Amino acid sequence: MLRPGNTIIHAQQIIARCKRLAGFSEDQDGLRRTFLSPPMQECHREISQWLNDLGAEASVDAAGNLRGFYPGAEENSPKLLIGSHLDTVPNAGAYDGVLGVVIAVALLEALQGRRLPFGIEVVGFSEEEGVRFGTPFLGSRALIGQLDEELLNLRDAEGVTMRQAIRNFGLDPLRIPSAAMKSDALAYLEFHIEQGPVLESLGLPQTLGVVEAIAAQRRMEFEFFGCTNHAGTTPMNLRRDAIAGAAEWIVEVERTAKNVRGAVATVGQIVAKPGAVNVIAGSARVTLDVRHGSGDTCTQVTHTFVQLAEEIAQRRGLKLRRKELLAQRAIKMDAFLVEQIEEAIRNVGCHPHRMVSGAGHDAMILAEKVPTAIIFLPSPGGTSHDPAESVRTEDVAKALECGLQLLEQLSNSSEFQKRMCRA
Ligand code: HGY
Ligand code: MN
Ligand code: MN
Repeated sequence: MLRPGNTIIHAQQIIARCKRLAGFSEDQDGLRRTFLSPPMQECHREISQWLNDLGAEASVDAAGNLRGFYPGAEENSPKLLIGSHLDTVPNAGAYDGVLGVVIAVALLEALQGRRLPFGIEVVGFSEEEGVRFGTPFLGSRALIGQLDEELLNLRDAEGVTMRQAIRNFGLDPLRIPSAAMKSDALAYLEFHIEQGPVLESLGLPQTLGVVEAIAAQRRMEFEFFGCTNHAGTTPMNLRRDAIAGAAEWIVEVERTAKNVRGAVATVGQIVAKPGAVNVIAGSARVTLDVRHGSGDTCTQVTHTFVQLAEEIAQRRGLKLRRKELLAQRAIKMDAFLVEQIEEAIRNVGCHPHRMVSGAGHDAMILAEKVPTAIIFLPSPGGTSHDPAESVRTEDVAKALECGLQLLEQLSNSSEFQKRMCRA
């Protein structure tokens, strides 16, 4: 088993592996790896090699999730799932998602063939960010049996359906039901970078985050329709300018969100047509992402933004179309696992910090079906979803030690043994 001394070497290898996987991208000038894109195949090949080398047989399920099962001491031992997502946002950093999968592999390597009272399944989810089809958590939804027909009919920017994308990757959409986790799944653990400034702002050395809950999320798309016209000949009072309408709404979204404690609201995308310098825009399509620790507040704030859009459109003579992309309730993590993680962090000489996750994670989907918990590593500079995203070697080493300590604790826990008997 690992001793604190050599975890730094393993942490260096974990970081090197994340950087290697970051080389598998759809873009030359940055990291973008979306649902079942060709670079995802390379990613699967690399990680499968690591899994097969340690005796955890790797496979890819019909939703494109990479799975590697490391058996327990007994035949048919129930299993603990440990993983995260392998897809990325455009121009991504090297650690969001991937780090959780690489740490899971490193935990198995550190066991050095030792069998625990439960099996461990490493899961690399195929799509958490929702970039390709505009809807997130596709891989984890398959694990809870919710990758349904409606989702399979979604089309990407090229008009390819999700169903066809699965076939193009060499998988069979008809086998998606077999990707669902079975009743022998004990729990799901996810190691993830915090993607924010909280842990670093504590100014304590060797702090790891213990997520108590994941914030509620609402994602919507709005399209303002005006009247395309000549930029030079159309007087200001005779315009129905879609971009100007969207812009007024965007400023109102930011002003309103600043006045709601604990709320964050983001307009991350704006696409205007026809998009010419000398043409008044006839349409402006914008996305909205609202988050709050309370599901009710998240819903209320989102409703305020919808009313604002309707009022601005009406006053400016614009038409408005809106579409819901995601309505994800706030999710509490499993109290027993949170306590166990807190104890494991202390036992390896670190500071545990309980917190709410503003970022969404596959854990919020898995939590619908199994006890779930997340361990956060600090994000230097609080930066994420950007090439500057990073992680410190010593924090990775501590996360690895914490993970091994947690496996020891769960192996000897009467509560976890009770759960194993029920699985
Ligand atoms: O957007 C999120 O919350 C996550 O990074 N997918
Ligand atoms: Mn992300
Ligand atoms: Mn992530």
